[in-house]
Amino acid sequence: MKLFIYHTPELTPTDKTPDCAIVVDVLRATSTIATVLASGGEAVQAFSDLDQLIAVSEKWPSEKRLRAGERGGAKVTGFELGNSPLDCTPEVVQGRRLFISTTNGTRALQRIQHSPTVIAAALINRAAVVHYLWEKQPEIVWIVGSGWEGSFSLEDTVCAGAIAYSLVEKSQLSPDDLAGNDELISAIALYSQWQNDLLGLFHQASHGKRLLRLEGHEDLKYCAQIDILDVLPIQQETGVLKSQ
Ligand code: MLT
Repeated sequence: MKLFIYHTPELTPTDKTPDCAIVVDVLRATSTIATVLASGGEAVQAFSDLDQLIAVSEKWPSEKRLRAGERGGAKVTGFELGNSPLDCTPEVVQGRRLFISTTNGTRALQRIQHSPTVIAAALINRAAVVHYLWEKQPEIVWIVGSGWEGSFSLEDTVCAGAIAYSLVEKSQLSPDDLAGNDELISAIALYSQWQNDLLGLFHQASHGKRLLRLEGHEDLKYCAQIDILDVLPIQQETGVLKSQ
């Protein structure tokens, strides 16, 4: 297995696809997706475009759907939910499909949706993702951070590092054996330094600061937890993730 990390969707190669693509948007799209599926949601369907989301979700029975929209960290007017994982309780999501569009996370998902396997990872479901990789041993794996509007983000990189760190521990390989690119080595170093204070790292991250300005402290605390949900969101048809 070779792991490649790309800090933003824009940095992924356009002339090839990996055997397995893992999209990461710790703050907060992939944390929300994992939470919805762990809470009994039927599926999560992701869109980069809000109008397309509305058009597709209109065809779904209203009692079986929820619409979540986020732009700039804030809820989109007219949508039932924004992008807070804490709103996705079993009472709210059980048996329903969540139609979601966010600033960066759903765009990142769209970028790699033609890979044979597509997974959504966050810190909260890191162990389930590592377990899948360890069992299936895909040859080429991309971990794609969502970043923020084309720029690097600390929270997605630390999550990529947490996945790689755990694989290194399991396999007893060196980071160098696993690394497909230099980004992987630096992500492991970032996780090694911050693994006992992930919330502290989020407080230094630009999107963490943006969410704190929007009263998102509880979201940061939730998303900074590691291995708390045993759920693997995996793409079943283009743009549709279900739990495995
Ligand atoms: C995104 O897609 O950029 C995010 O998930 C933003 C957020 O809601 O925190």
